[in-house]
Amino acid sequence: MRTLILPGGDEAVALGQGTWRMGERRKAFKDEVAALRHGIACGMTLIDTAEMYGSGGAEKVIREAIRDQRDAVYLVSKVLPSNAGRKRMVRACERSLKHLGTDRLDLYLLHWRGGVSLDETVEGFLALREAGKIRHFGVSNFDTDDMEALWQTAGAQACQTNQILYNLTRRWPEASLMEWSRRHGQPLMIYSPLEQGRMPADGALGAIARARGATPMQVALAWTLRHADTFVVPKASRIAHVDENLGALDIVLTEDELAALDRDFPPPAGDAALEIL
Ligand SMILES: NC(=O)c1ccc[n+]([C@@H]2O[C@H](COP(=O)([O-])OP(=O)(O)OC[C@H]3O[C@@H](n4cnc5c(N)ncnc54)[C@H](OP(=O)(O)O)[C@@H]3O)[C@@H](O)[C@H]2O)c1
Repeated sequence: MRTLILPGGDEAVALGQGTWRMGERRKAFKDEVAALRHGIACGMTLIDTAEMYGSGGAEKVIREAIRDQRDAVYLVSKVLPSNAGRKRMVRACERSLKHLGTDRLDLYLLHWRGGVSLDETVEGFLALREAGKIRHFGVSNFDTDDMEALWQTAGAQACQTNQILYNLTRRWPEASLMEWSRRHGQPLMIYSPLEQGRMPADGALGAIARARGATPMQVALAWTLRHADTFVVPKASRIAHVDENLGALDIVLTEDELAALDRDFPPPAGDAALEIL
């Protein structure tokens, strides 16, 4: 499994697993647990979740998937902006830990920037880190201006990542955020790399997939994995999808293929606004 080193020194796998929409239907619980366990067994040991997903339901799916293997996984959860104040954050984190059946998160992210000041949020993260409830913190859905503001906040440079929407149809981070993040040593964690399963499969994407004997989803995922300083959390609740996604690691796109994809999915020409799902 390809890995990257986070700013704090942790080694994380480049291809992890997302969990949005898990834990919402009791009938799906067994299959979701099985898919996560299969992914972990295959090396996709980073698991991304949030208190918001299924109102804790996704965290409970994960609890079942990791109950005998907590130390094998790198656990990422997110606090809602409305819970990002110093006191509420402690309660939110403790709730997440309980749902997940663990005593610590490896990484705790602010889900998106809300009304609580960055000063107070970072203070909250640092207090949780001091208490051993989280090992590291980061942010999500921050654009370049948000990152600049974060960087002015005391203690915030211990941030480990910014989790953002990025895929062939959503290239907004290429306008400035990617360059900013690289310059500041901040890896980007990519979400919805498959555009939630709606990635268009015709044109260059389909042609490249056919020529390689791969699927368009694998090519789209390989495209998001083409930089050494990004990691990706596709969500799959079917084992067949997990296996298919793992196949993306074997695909290194050529310059010609990248140029063909650029023609169908052009990068932003100038400024581009934050996109969020
Ligand atoms: N920070 C944020 O604001 C934010 C926002 C969105 C997502 N996220 C995180 O990022 C994760 C991934 O994003 P996402 O769930 O929005 O979208 P995604 O990973 O782009 O797509 C997930 C969808 O694609 C399907 N799928 C997976 N692999 C496939 C394959 N090989 N072929 C065809 N379909 C496939 C899944 O189906 P099955 O489930 O049926 O296998 C699911 O319906 C989330 O689960 C969450 O952890 C974070």
